[in-house]
Amino acid sequence: MDTLHLKAPGSWLNDPNGFIYYKGQYHLFYQHFPFATRWGTMHWGHAVSKDLVHWEHLGVAIFPTKHFDANGIFSGSTFELNGEMLIYYTGVRYYAFERENSHVSLNDVYECTQVMMTSPDGMTFDNYDGKKIILPVIYDDDVAYFNHTRDPKVWEENGKYYMALGSTYKMKKGRVIILQSDDAKNWEIKTVLADKKFGRILECPDIFKIGDQHVFLISPMYIVPKSAGYTAQSMIGTVDFDPETCRLSNLGEFEFIDHGMDLYATQSCVDEEGRRVMVVWLRMPEEAKMPSDKKPWNGMMCVPRVIDYVDGCFYYRIHPNVLKYFDKKLSDEEMSSFKAGREKPWFMETKITNGDSIDIGGYRIWMENDTVHTNRDKVFVKGAKLPTSFSLPAYSSEYKLSIIVEPNIIEIYVDDGKYCLTNAVYNLQDQLTGKVGTVYEASEE
Ligand code: FRU
Repeated sequence: MDTLHLKAPGSWLNDPNGFIYYKGQYHLFYQHFPFATRWGTMHWGHAVSKDLVHWEHLGVAIFPTKHFDANGIFSGSTFELNGEMLIYYTGVRYYAFERENSHVSLNDVYECTQVMMTSPDGMTFDNYDGKKIILPVIYDDDVAYFNHTRDPKVWEENGKYYMALGSTYKMKKGRVIILQSDDAKNWEIKTVLADKKFGRILECPDIFKIGDQHVFLISPMYIVPKSAGYTAQSMIGTVDFDPETCRLSNLGEFEFIDHGMDLYATQSCVDEEGRRVMVVWLRMPEEAKMPSDKKPWNGMMCVPRVIDYVDGCFYYRIHPNVLKYFDKKLSDEEMSSFKAGREKPWFMETKITNGDSIDIGGYRIWMENDTVHTNRDKVFVKGAKLPTSFSLPAYSSEYKLSIIVEPNIIEIYVDDGKYCLTNAVYNLQDQLTGKVGTVYEASEE
């Protein structure tokens, strides 16, 4: 059982997949290599939750069995139709693999096939007889690229079904492919759109509506220079989508979903109450192990964030169930012996203004010239070749910060979700000093 942040159950986790509220509980699948704390032949790991806070690990749901997915079950989505869970993923077949690591393709060359499975209950998956090809490998450069075409995300509008696929135009421009279906099973390619805003390769596209506005979550590769650390970053923007023609137009300005630059590969679903909720993978440069962990692990999800779009601005709010979980306000006495480097998650709300600073076990937050800065030098992997200083967009002389802390993650939300800054951290120390606000933990054990 994981509480608050879903973590790799030992070994490796990357993208969230198949996120859905289905038959009374949330299912969150994820890219999973079960054998080591590094990326390799992809499986879909599986976890369920009643409340998006307590996660039960159910092991591997989907694994390679076919010629078209022998080298990986890449990212995808799920969709409920007539009580069944429909599952869409990208099957990967390498042409050749690295001599010293057979789990990695030689020169990053492989074929992508789009595949569908059906599960009657979201618990059983027929890996041997249940896989159906819905879109064979595409060799036509005018449509897609055989190699980097992946991550089917399915949604419904007015009784019709749509699928977005991430791809590339000749490795130069990211491209999205839109397919349409009357039954969510037989699919036809309708439109393709390449744009510099999608980087050079587009991964994990996710299109949905907030009110009347279509919103586009994208994970473009090579959107920022190498010096920025990870060159692939997740972003969000508005788009116009015509359900008749499947045309996408009027791409808005895309903004980073998080300013810590560690989060990548977004996926959203609609929660029990109809909110649009997103989870994102936290990239970690090194494996982690807490005292209570049986096995080392690498990769975790941020807490579910409710995406809102108000007066032309996006908001990323901590899911109300997460706020409810932190139900115990610590007394002055409890605060006098409080340790920031504890294993159990905790939460702090504070206000910060120019000249203020906070030290959370060696992770530093401070504000000058109306800008909030953070630094993780003291609590990060030495020589990781990743940035350690970050800044939030400036727009005020005082900000409310809501901060979630666990041993390997710090999530900072500004003014109830106007901006977020999330960082992977290691070995937080015990001190909590500076502009400390109100601290909460969960009363449950
Ligand atoms: C994004 C991604 C996806 C792909 C998966 C493979 O992180 O590269 O495009 O499906 O990870 O694990």
